[in-house]
Amino acid sequence: MAASLIRLHFHDCFVQGCDASILLDETPSIQSEKTAIPNINSARGYNVIEDAKREVERLCPRVVSCADILTVAARDASVAVGGPSWNVKLGRKDSTTANRARANSDLPSPFADANTLISAFSVKGLTTRDMIALSGIYYISSFTIAYTRPSPMLLFRSRIYSNGTDIDPGFASTRRRQCPQTGGDSTLAPLDLVTPNSFDNNYFKNLVQRKGLLISDQVLFTSASTKDIVDGYSKNPRSFAADFASAMIKMGEIQPLLAPNGIVRKTCGSILVN
Ligand code: HEM
Repeated sequence: MAASLIRLHFHDCFVQGCDASILLDETPSIQSEKTAIPNINSARGYNVIEDAKREVERLCPRVVSCADILTVAARDASVAVGGPSWNVKLGRKDSTTANRARANSDLPSPFADANTLISAFSVKGLTTRDMIALSGIYYISSFTIAYTRPSPMLLFRSRIYSNGTDIDPGFASTRRRQCPQTGGDSTLAPLDLVTPNSFDNNYFKNLVQRKGLLISDQVLFTSASTKDIVDGYSKNPRSFAADFASAMIKMGEIQPLLAPNGIVRKTCGSILVN
């Protein structure tokens, strides 16, 4: 769940800023981001944030926004798996709107090349280095792709059957056994090969060994503009952890919604304040 909460924060902040818009449920006036393509049957941890909000409301009603709770939860999730800690500035307000179209357009695609990924982050004020450091989160994800997607294997099938030079042959054949060229779409495929839930730089070591699962993972090592950073993180876990923390701080400050704008919701799934 730790990685999922960090992802929820990322998917919130990339769509009209860190304003908890991702937590809003569908209503006649709100097109929920929960059903956007990158989120549907995939983003999780909503209930963790809603539970935390309930506790906070009990102690201190209508003061702490859902956006701040999500930001703090992402930091605590990193600490919980042995990752870095950082100070979270507070004061974000919650939105009264969500934007499903922006969730579909602004969250990066797993088929993207390195330049497209770089610009998807740069329009949000994050550097190439921030993007690569944040991607290191995959290593602690206990997520299994096929749990959630109707045709999940499409995400990486083209890569493992590509016979390209950017994939380790042993890795490709292991993955092919799990994922036949046709059918088999309900088979589970862990995003990462090694035991999750401990924060380290193995994601980058895997990329250097050409064992990235998604196309958007492996391009980080095959592309000249990102290769050196991946290489550096694979050798220096401390610089990865430090850069991860600073990238998370920057991500948490994308387009902040501050007073007098925004609201403090009573529950995170709706815009009711009383
Ligand atoms: C660089 C561009 C990125 C792309 C193209 C991308 C794409 C994806 C895709 C396609 C999945 C699988 C979803 C599914 O099949 O349901 C996924 C999962 C995931 N992503 Fe990303 N992602 C990116 C960046 C990030 C960042 C910056 C974070 C967090 C800081 C993140 C955290 C996660 C996590 C934790 C999962 C597993 C889900 C879970 O454990 O609940 N991703 N991502």
